[in-house]
Amino acid sequence: MELSSRIARISESITLAISSKAKAMKAKGEDVIDFGVGEPDFDTPAHIKQAAIDAINAGYTKYTPASGSAELKDAIAEKLKKDNQLEYTTDRILVSCGAKHSLYNIVVAMCEEGDEVIIPSPYWVSYPEMVKASGAESVYLPTDESTEFKITPEQLANAISPRSKLLILNSPSNPTGSVYTRAELVKLASVIAGSRIHVLSDEIYEALVYDDTKHVSIASLGSEIFERTIVVNGVSKSYAMTGWRIGYAAGPKEVIKAAMQLQSHSTSNPASISQKAALAALKGDQQCVEDMRVEFDGRRRVIVDLLNKLPGITCLEPKGAFYALPNVSEWYGKTICGRKITSSLEFAAVCLEEAKIAIVPGSGFGDDRVVRFSYATGMESITEGISRLRRILK
Ligand SMILES: Cc1ncc(COP(=O)(O)O)c(C=O)c1O
Repeated sequence: MELSSRIARISESITLAISSKAKAMKAKGEDVIDFGVGEPDFDTPAHIKQAAIDAINAGYTKYTPASGSAELKDAIAEKLKKDNQLEYTTDRILVSCGAKHSLYNIVVAMCEEGDEVIIPSPYWVSYPEMVKASGAESVYLPTDESTEFKITPEQLANAISPRSKLLILNSPSNPTGSVYTRAELVKLASVIAGSRIHVLSDEIYEALVYDDTKHVSIASLGSEIFERTIVVNGVSKSYAMTGWRIGYAAGPKEVIKAAMQLQSHSTSNPASISQKAALAALKGDQQCVEDMRVEFDGRRRVIVDLLNKLPGITCLEPKGAFYALPNVSEWYGKTICGRKITSSLEFAAVCLEEAKIAIVPGSGFGDDRVVRFSYATGMESITEGISRLRRILK
């Protein structure tokens, strides 16, 4: 069987590979603590679940318009105006089966062979694979702790070529936890204004920012950057709704229309019942979001503090999302439990096999010096997991 060359280039998500190994160990009765997962461990708030139950009982079980129901698009437009100071008419909004689906539709609608997509690294695992599926090529901008894992305007300016089509910006970031300040975004926006590129701004972790950090959408920084940005967001992370599969994109009319046409011939509308649940999430009381954020914040402080006390490990304090990304490269060339460690993959493997903790190697995010811990897991698991790690590092 010969697969298409575009699809044959796509690799399996390394995060899913680790979590399936951890699941297999758990199924055999092993006590594995999972720091691999990228989803809130909270249940979806009760009023949101009730809206879905009501939708089923009311027979709201048919197709909706392919790009999402009018009432949900109105609620998204309202949210973008209120929270992000962005004004979109509803023909500039597409509701998809998760933010991932919106991102995929936009990348495939905009990019093709010969195009370049600029991706800061470490990056979320799916961006390069989406770019491959479109036929375009990724151009990575490496970052490290010295700039809090953020790209500089000079780096961006130097990376832009006549072939550049898109910059994918993810703030707050998975996996780094970095959040760009307004001043930093203003500088990036002015580089973008001097070029032909568009920005795909993945703001899925918007609600999860800590200390005095504020989320700013780059699209809100003036009319020119507004017209060059496609904002992607969704309900998965803010409302603990990963399984419901509702995300959305807002941007220039022609881009949204093209992505909508693609969606209309692939998945059609996202589930009607999930759309009613997302409507309840966006229009209902937002206290549930704040409650989860406060809980994540407490865990963040504990895990970062514990990680920084481990020998040979340093961890920058993440400002958003729910991941810690410690640098473990001091261990490379040394041995842990009799095994010589030379990469993030080996570090993660020894953690899983010897300490029974599942973490994600940074190689999957484009940075082999780091590993990713998700703190979307209970406080007890965090303290027990890190003490297991301490034991094997001794
Ligand atoms: C950076 C980033 N963008 C998008 C998504 C996808 O979110 P959704 O569940 O809405 O598809 C994720 C999920 O892990 C993510 O980490």
